[in-house]
Amino acid sequence: MSDSALAVVVLAAGSGTRMKSTLPKVLHAIGGRPMLAHVLAVTKVLKAARVVVVTAPDAAAVAALAKEWGAETVVQQRQLGTGHAVLAAEGALKEFAGNLLVLFGDTPLLTAGTLSRLIAGLEDSGPGAGTDIAALGFRAADPAGYGRMVCDGNRLSRIVEDKDATPEERRNNLCFAGMLAGKASTVFELLHGVGNQNAQGEFYLTDLIAIAGARKLRCAAVEGKEEEMLGVNSRAHLAEAEMAFQARRKAELMEQGVSFLAPDTVFVSADTTIEPDAIIGPYVVFGPGVIVRSNAEIRAFCHIEHSEIGKGAIVGPFARLRGGAKLDDNVDIGNFVELKNAHLEQGVKAHHLTYIGDAHVGARANIGAGTITCNYDGVAKHRTEIGAGAFIGSNAALVAPVKVGAGAIVAAGSVITEDVEANALAVARGRQVTKPGRAETIRAKNRAKKNKD
Ligand code: UD1
Ligand code: CA
Repeated sequence: MSDSALAVVVLAAGSGTRMKSTLPKVLHAIGGRPMLAHVLAVTKVLKAARVVVVTAPDAAAVAALAKEWGAETVVQQRQLGTGHAVLAAEGALKEFAGNLLVLFGDTPLLTAGTLSRLIAGLEDSGPGAGTDIAALGFRAADPAGYGRMVCDGNRLSRIVEDKDATPEERRNNLCFAGMLAGKASTVFELLHGVGNQNAQGEFYLTDLIAIAGARKLRCAAVEGKEEEMLGVNSRAHLAEAEMAFQARRKAELMEQGVSFLAPDTVFVSADTTIEPDAIIGPYVVFGPGVIVRSNAEIRAFCHIEHSEIGKGAIVGPFARLRGGAKLDDNVDIGNFVELKNAHLEQGVKAHHLTYIGDAHVGARANIGAGTITCNYDGVAKHRTEIGAGAFIGSNAALVAPVKVGAGAIVAAGSVITEDVEANALAVARGRQVTKPGRAETIRAKNRAKKNKD
């Protein structure tokens, strides 16, 4: 990578008309993380000295996300094109002496490795030699919509936008990915020469290449892989980028020692952490904020978000872990169990059909089928405490706030409204009444009634 300091300008002011959305385009998510955040994550890897995000005037949410990632923001007052958008950052970077990298907020699959190669393309720049502007391109299977890079030998002479290209130019499949790099002062100076006499009446960033050529500066195309370059302009592109992200992230996790029984059926989020030797079954969905420790097993059809699953724990099939579930080591959660804001200490078992919310469950407690913590009274949430080694019989309702002491037994079918002390037995249900022969009497009565009708 070049030794000079690096500033990055991320364009994120476009209206994203083709998305047909009220949400700014760069906030649409891939792997549960806004596209802009994917791009900003890459700038962290590049250790950029400055990161400036160009936003539209009324895009408070975009600016807030940029700040969250430690980036500066500038406003492009009117969306007059990509070249015009880069110039919006000129004031913020006028003292900046190093290299400038332009990125688009709608290319979420880009990797730091590829960008480092692009910047390295400037390495040997000097009077009369090397490259002044390096632009990232790729060979597109379907180049429609992309700017085409016109080369003359190993020099990039210009980029022509799809809408301005001749049919012959459109046959060229070397497409501009939207990223380019050069000395900051050179990039800004060249952009002042860009006009808007084109099919879209916009100030194109891409016109900077021909202007550089006319000034005898050297431009080069650096080629990258198409799978990283997808520019998301529509919902169809968004779905395509999501699929590519999913495949890549799961490949990385498998590389790190995670087993997926059917990787194509599993959805991971950008921040999903899974440790080696965990086993992930088919059709599991990881929403944001999930950590799965080593040797845990997530069985088929689980839906998990904002939760931590300890070593050797078993979850599912068909379990739902909503926010704030913390499973310590070797916890065993079975089918149709739902957890929310619940800490289950090690070895707890809840095998079937249970809801545990706003609760703490001590080590090795056993939660019987159908147990429900009644944590909500229609106004406020209340906590349930279950002590270590307690046994909660099937179909118990624990009406919070309530505590069941360590080692206590709650009888099946109980509605527990008062605290149960340690090692006590609590039974809270109607007593059984059995009437011999009464079934026959009832049947005879019912038959007689039916015959009369
Ligand atoms: C752009 C390139 C095209 C390239 C393609 C790669 C230009 C003129 N065209 O086309 O050569 O092949 O990307 O994906 O650069 N934006 C602003 N302000 C504006 C306009 C756009 O900030 O006034 C931002 C958008 O939010 C987006 C990025 O710039 O993040 C690209 O804009 P977009 O309209 O998507 O450009 P494309 O038509 O895809
Ligand atoms: Ca685009």
